Amino acid sequence: MSEENFISDEELVKRKLEHLILCSTDKVAFKQKTTGFELYDFVHCAVPPIDIDEINLNADFFGFNSNYPFFISCMTGGTSDLTNINLQLAEAASELNIPLGLGSQRYALGSEEFYSHFEKIKETACDVPIIGNIGAAQIAEGKYFTQILKLIEYSGVNAFAIHLNPAQELFQVKGDTNFENFYKNLEDLVEKANVPFIAKEVGSGISAPVIKNLLDCGVEGIDVAGAGGTSWTAVEILRNGEPEDQEFWDWGLPTVYCINQAIKIKVQRDFMLTGSGGINTAFDIAKALALGCDFTASARIILRALNESGTQGVINFVNRLFKDVKRIMYLTGATSLTDFNTSKLIKKEEFYK
Ligand SMILES: Cc1cc2nc3c(=O)[nH]c(=O)nc-3n(C[C@H](O)[C@H](O)[C@H](O)COP(=O)(O)O)c2cc1C
Repeated sequence: MSEENFISDEELVKRKLEHLILCSTDKVAFKQKTTGFELYDFVHCAVPPIDIDEINLNADFFGFNSNYPFFISCMTGGTSDLTNINLQLAEAASELNIPLGLGSQRYALGSEEFYSHFEKIKETACDVPIIGNIGAAQIAEGKYFTQILKLIEYSGVNAFAIHLNPAQELFQVKGDTNFENFYKNLEDLVEKANVPFIAKEVGSGISAPVIKNLLDCGVEGIDVAGAGGTSWTAVEILRNGEPEDQEFWDWGLPTVYCINQAIKIKVQRDFMLTGSGGINTAFDIAKALALGCDFTASARIILRALNESGTQGVINFVNRLFKDVKRIMYLTGATSLTDFNTSKLIKKEEFYK
């Protein structure tokens, strides 16, 4: 990182607060580009083979039996000002018995004083897995190698997510745009760390060649975080006060495109695929699962539920989503998550051929 790109802890916290404020609104949604889920509908089964209560939604998250194939996606790392959000989300995740993703823990690389925040989060989350988080740019930089390993160990996370966000960094003032040594450093880190790694985007999606490279580095989970939900170029464009008709606002690969690319790779390689990026409804979740995702995740919609109705609001929201996912599975004649596959989906254009 060059001198002029140096960012202090105070600036990091201020930046995160601005992100949280902007993401509490719909202003940061993609404008024209959509996830692609709207292109599909479900194949109705007029005689479902099992009763709805027999459908089990439990899913394996690196050895943890999650109540739903869903985790709360990474939003805040939990500096002192922001710990509260993570504590509320940890309480919700614990009650729901689903994993919780933390936002970037970058601020904790320089100082161990922050570890107590993670202890509190872990305590509140009880037994549900916590996913740690750092940016690809920090990995590319190389100099944090030891600190990242220490962070993983001391914060007691059960999996570690690397966020890939070149479009956001490009538009962010003091953004880190140098990813040159990323793959090599990632491979070394994955080898040394004792938790599974997940590579995620933040809303621009991951293409097939990049997925393959990440898997070659030993990453065990891919979270596509595709376009159609929260636009992180939009977040930075708004922070910069740039014109809102900026064409980069809608930059990225739609979530469904990324899922379908990843599914082709999944035929040959074993990894946990998470569908995310604009997963806002039960229908989005169900379509991602039927396309072949092992897990799904949402960020901004969860933040909104939290802002509107607190921890209980998040719990109710996620339970409602999965009540409807179960209804969809029942009405398509799916007997289990494994049985809920592309045969239950139809491209809408097929209806009127
Ligand atoms: C307020 C907010 C903060 C975020 N911060 C992070 C972060 O620190 N690290 C990260 O990997 N992703 C971060 N994200 C990105 C999300 O994890 C997610 O990939 C992205 O927003 C797309 O999902 P969505 O359409 O459901 O919001 C953040 C998202 C939101 C809404």
